[in-house]
Amino acid sequence: MKYFSKFEKKKKMKITVVGAGAVGASCAEYIAIKNFASEVVLLDIKENYAEGKAMDLMQTASLNNFDTRVIGSTNDYSKTKDSNIAVITSGIPRKPGMSREELIGINAGIVKEVSQNLIKYSPEVIIIIVSNPMDTMTYLTHKITNLPKNRIIGMGGALDSARFKYRLSEALDCPSSDVSGMVIGGHSDKGMVPLTRLATRNSINVSKFLSNERLDKVKNDTKVGGATLTAMLGTSAWYAPGAAVSSLVQAISCDQKKMFPCSVILDGEYGFQDVAIGVPVILGKNGIERIIEIELNEQEKDQLSSSVDAVKKTNKMLSEMSLF
Ligand code: LAC
Repeated sequence: MKYFSKFEKKKKMKITVVGAGAVGASCAEYIAIKNFASEVVLLDIKENYAEGKAMDLMQTASLNNFDTRVIGSTNDYSKTKDSNIAVITSGIPRKPGMSREELIGINAGIVKEVSQNLIKYSPEVIIIIVSNPMDTMTYLTHKITNLPKNRIIGMGGALDSARFKYRLSEALDCPSSDVSGMVIGGHSDKGMVPLTRLATRNSINVSKFLSNERLDKVKNDTKVGGATLTAMLGTSAWYAPGAAVSSLVQAISCDQKKMFPCSVILDGEYGFQDVAIGVPVILGKNGIERIIEIELNEQEKDQLSSSVDAVKKTNKMLSEMSLF
């Protein structure tokens, strides 16, 4: 009896994932396996595709011990009604040799339509944007939906930081769990700013263990992390992007107050305005609860500033496309 009353008190968390491609499906899978949400609604425009992925995932429930209910739908947004969080993965991924920015022509129109549909059925939703070019799609979602900026979150920094920690652990020959580090700036091959100066192994600065040359290699390998995998796989990666999104969704769902670098609309923070770019934030039940302003050195400031300029240039294409 006691068990049931405790169980009933658990807040119901409904998560929508739009796009049942590799990233969307992997994100739905990690959310389900982590077992913190009551329901995941997976949506896709391809007839029966999301339904199939959802059914396949549900058939792992008894094997992977989760209670999350995953349902699929062919583009029926009424099924997403009253979602607490929605993840937009829709659009096309990049092919080898392409930059994320080249996807804007196709993905901008899709993200616009998806975000409009989402808020129609879930006016209180917190939206996480994964579609590329991610910082620009985050800015577009802000312009289209007019949601308060704490409810619009771009997923890039969490993924780039995970890749940074992987590269650091490779250089240090230690497990990733020994490593702490963060990537700020735009989610692009040139725009990422891996903060090697602040990275540590169990609180000891990594420069104690690694030469400047090795740290430069870590930095460069991190920046081209997505492109390296795209060249190997023939399409964009999905495990780490899916895991990164699920961590953000969990931090919000469980009100963890956890820190991640995320793309967020800046309103004077770091000296920038009217742009979405990756900076450290605290995630909790209200989405972005706080933006953390850290002291950057001159070189990092310059790198962040160039990254902002590049994102703003891509954002300009949105007005040329008359999307808002
Ligand atoms: C990547 C995509 C998700 O970096 O942008 O793999």
